[in-house]
Amino acid sequence: MAWSPDKTEVKSWNEWDTLRHVIVGRADDCHIPPEEPALEAKVPEDSDMRGQWGRRPQETIDRANELLDNFADQLRKRGVRVDRPTSIDHSQPATTPDFHTDSQFGCMPPRDVLLTVGHEILEATMSYRCRWFEYLNYRPLMQQYWDEDPNFRHEAAPKPRLTDADYHPDYLSDKIGVEKRLQWTAEKFFVTTEEEPLFDAADVLRFGRDLVVQHGFTTNLKGIEWLRRHFPDHRVHTVNFPGDPYPIHIDATFTPLRPGLILNNPQRRLPEEQRGMFERNGWEILDAAQPAHNTPPPLCYSSTWLSMNVLVLDPKTVCVEKSEVYQAEQMDKLGMEVVEVDLRDAYAFGGGLHCCTADVYRDGDCEDYFP
Ligand code: ARG
Repeated sequence: MAWSPDKTEVKSWNEWDTLRHVIVGRADDCHIPPEEPALEAKVPEDSDMRGQWGRRPQETIDRANELLDNFADQLRKRGVRVDRPTSIDHSQPATTPDFHTDSQFGCMPPRDVLLTVGHEILEATMSYRCRWFEYLNYRPLMQQYWDEDPNFRHEAAPKPRLTDADYHPDYLSDKIGVEKRLQWTAEKFFVTTEEEPLFDAADVLRFGRDLVVQHGFTTNLKGIEWLRRHFPDHRVHTVNFPGDPYPIHIDATFTPLRPGLILNNPQRRLPEEQRGMFERNGWEILDAAQPAHNTPPPLCYSSTWLSMNVLVLDPKTVCVEKSEVYQAEQMDKLGMEVVEVDLRDAYAFGGGLHCCTADVYRDGDCEDYFP
């Protein structure tokens, strides 16, 4: 049955089939949260974010919102239905019987929290304390989808306790250095422990019957095992990217563009021994183009590799950030139509074009690409 804008339907099985309905985040009331174990491990030693916390400056919030609104309009003009979350008050502390943090994170980026698999949207456990309540920003939309789509499955993974037992104290110095971090990543020694299942939705890529999940700071092996048991009809694959000293969220590292083609961050290549399923099925893994920038914008958690954090609209069309000229050129050579989107001034709010969206509906069914 063809998709209709008048009827809400949740369904998305992969990262590339024609996008019809999407959530775009908001920068409203975003905060730089106070120190906490998992977050400190992620902030590079030389980052301008070290030691800072509090509400983000209003002019940066306004500018990011302007860009996110424009992106939403651009998508609408192409016929995509766009929904927006409702920001909660992120200045509120978060307290559970197990932890306390003085503020929350924000209403960005939705990709980190919401994992759409088929007719289901699953709220991830999350692994930062400041993001524990982040799903609340999306609850009005989830309720609406629930009311309007009788086949929608709204699920939430078990909320983690996030006590100190969830984090390795070794990671909590600000002077570890990149060499040591790279060694730890290669040894698969990350800031999170195996105390309980932890995952962020943005560590998961959807390839029809197969889910590819990055094991790193925000997703542990128990989190991946939880996903395996939760999606019994899927094959769940664990991947690692040893070149990444801050392995968080897979979508600036490994970017499927269409069946048979994936871009991989050349500094974070998928190890040979993890390439089997792709090679056996004739998938090409190409080095992504270099980023156009040498440094991330101010107060940004992410690296310059948000250049490859693209949003695929259909197997021939892709949204690329406007200043990322090398990435756009590569897409062009790969035969993709490029839609330029101005988003760099919103990067600080948690990511690029893929991060700041979450799928609600894409055409197509659950296919087996790796038989
Ligand atoms: N870890 C990535 C990098 O800095 C950023 C990924 C952001 N993705 C996201 N869904 N928030 O290269």
